[in-house]
Amino acid sequence: MTSVTSLTDLVHQRLSDALASTLPEADGVDPLLRRSDRADFQANGILALAKKAKANPRELATQVVSQITTGEVIQDVEVSGPGFLNITITDRAITENLAARYADEARLGVPVAEHPGTTVIDYAQPNVAKEMHVGHLRSAVIGDALVQLLEFTGESVVRRHHIGDWGTQFGMLIQYLDEHPGELDHGDAQVTGEEAMSNLDRLYKAARKLFDSDEEFKTRARLRVVDLQAGEPKTLAAWQKFVDESKIYFFSVFEKLDMEIRDADIVGESGYNDMLDETCRLLEESGVAEISDGALCVFFDDIKGPDGNRTPLIVRKSDGGYGYAATDLSAIRDRVFNLKATSLLYVVDVRQSLHFKMVFETARRAGWLNDDVSAYQLAFGTILGKDGKPFKTREGVSVKLEDLLDEAVQRATSVVRDKAGKVGLSEQEIVDNGRYVGIGAVKYADLSTSAVRDYKFDLDQMVSLSGDTSVYLQYAYARIQSILRKAGEARPLAHPELELTGAERALGLHLDQFSEVVADAAKEYAPHKLTAYLYQLASLLTTFYDQCPVLQADTQEQRENRLLLVDLTARTLHLGMALLGIRTPEKL
Ligand code: ARG
Repeated sequence: MTSVTSLTDLVHQRLSDALASTLPEADGVDPLLRRSDRADFQANGILALAKKAKANPRELATQVVSQITTGEVIQDVEVSGPGFLNITITDRAITENLAARYADEARLGVPVAEHPGTTVIDYAQPNVAKEMHVGHLRSAVIGDALVQLLEFTGESVVRRHHIGDWGTQFGMLIQYLDEHPGELDHGDAQVTGEEAMSNLDRLYKAARKLFDSDEEFKTRARLRVVDLQAGEPKTLAAWQKFVDESKIYFFSVFEKLDMEIRDADIVGESGYNDMLDETCRLLEESGVAEISDGALCVFFDDIKGPDGNRTPLIVRKSDGGYGYAATDLSAIRDRVFNLKATSLLYVVDVRQSLHFKMVFETARRAGWLNDDVSAYQLAFGTILGKDGKPFKTREGVSVKLEDLLDEAVQRATSVVRDKAGKVGLSEQEIVDNGRYVGIGAVKYADLSTSAVRDYKFDLDQMVSLSGDTSVYLQYAYARIQSILRKAGEARPLAHPELELTGAERALGLHLDQFSEVVADAAKEYAPHKLTAYLYQLASLLTTFYDQCPVLQADTQEQRENRLLLVDLTARTLHLGMALLGIRTPEKL
């Protein structure tokens, strides 16, 4: 594993050195380097520096230029405008850089973070005995991408699926099951996810009906909650049946999503049951929480209800019951003190932002969160229908996640089938690719908008072959594979002595930026930065194809150079998509 210093970093270093030797006070000043259309890079940092040093920016820029040696890496540097520097890189440096990335098969030269920490990420958290909806889709898709991204940068990642598996509604379900035994017994029979969900749904509806119509059942159900909280064995066993049945369903959806969720990482609300008393005691003893109207509450000066009174976070209700806040506060203690997290990340709907704001602030006051351990909610927006309103079926009920995924796969399969003859795909390949394209399309659409924003769920757009879609990227990848198969060459060699065309340079310089983009996307929890990068990569590839023949290149050396360039592009697409949880079929 040899990481490759990017051209940006090389140029950055040379500029910083030149700045420092021109002006002593410029030591450590950022030259503000960015990619540019005019040259390869532009540096704008001299303007601010000149202002501070009361110097003429153009003169200062000219002095800095005289300190830069051109030749090996930097082809040319010139002053432009009010005092910018335009920098051009040598063809040789570009080709050598690409060859070095190409040699590192696993990481393509991408370094690991200098100071990795431990992130506990809370994502993919559906609720027991309930259908998953599109909100759960977002949490799973964004969370899974962040897990891959963070792990790739060297972070230790602990996954936590905080499923809703506790609470008063279980009293009703358990009581019903107790009075109608056998309803969740399958003997040896294997139950599909769909069957499991329909069993749960049937039970839920029947229990609800009884609960609403039969006062005595209602009383029995309420008493059952007390048994559950006390850990009474028979009650717990019935509860476990609901959890197990639900997991059959969850896993079937996650499998459809082509996502690995591990049972050991599912630690739901129930998992913190033993900590709740102590959490309350600690908060009360430290004065962070206080009793108000019989409930244990935490108050915030800036959080008020419509009546102007402060709205508290209720950690323990006046009847002694614990809610969502107590569980989340206990989970924080577990994650910080047992799992030794340095960052807590929550991929949860923006509609829960007030809850997390209060929970995090409480944990800070208690000293569980501090400068060494931070917590952040990646608050995602709503998935909207084509009409711009929250996604609902025509009947006005929220859309079942599975139906949505099935439809995406169906559409994608017909897109794949249309082209299958030309590429020579077998029926099995059509089916597999239909899945990869359909699920990829759903994931990509979700990941390519910044998470906080709402987005429209539009399958037609998602499986479109042109535009910013995963299919477009998957085709770009498959097209390269087809060229490589035709070329039949083993590993192409780089020829740094060759001159590059504009399209080659543009593609090469973009490939060089992969490291930075991955690091930024991981650091800022922003997978959309990676999708934007990959889309641009595919677009630059298209331009390159239009202008530069690969198999029919002028010389054998040029052919090899170009094969290396497209192969590295393919690997970058493959790795980038894998980090987003999206497959890249070899033939499409
Ligand atoms: N189960 C919750 C829901 O469906 C999401 C849980 C979020 N995570 C947490 N630690 N509270 O809305």
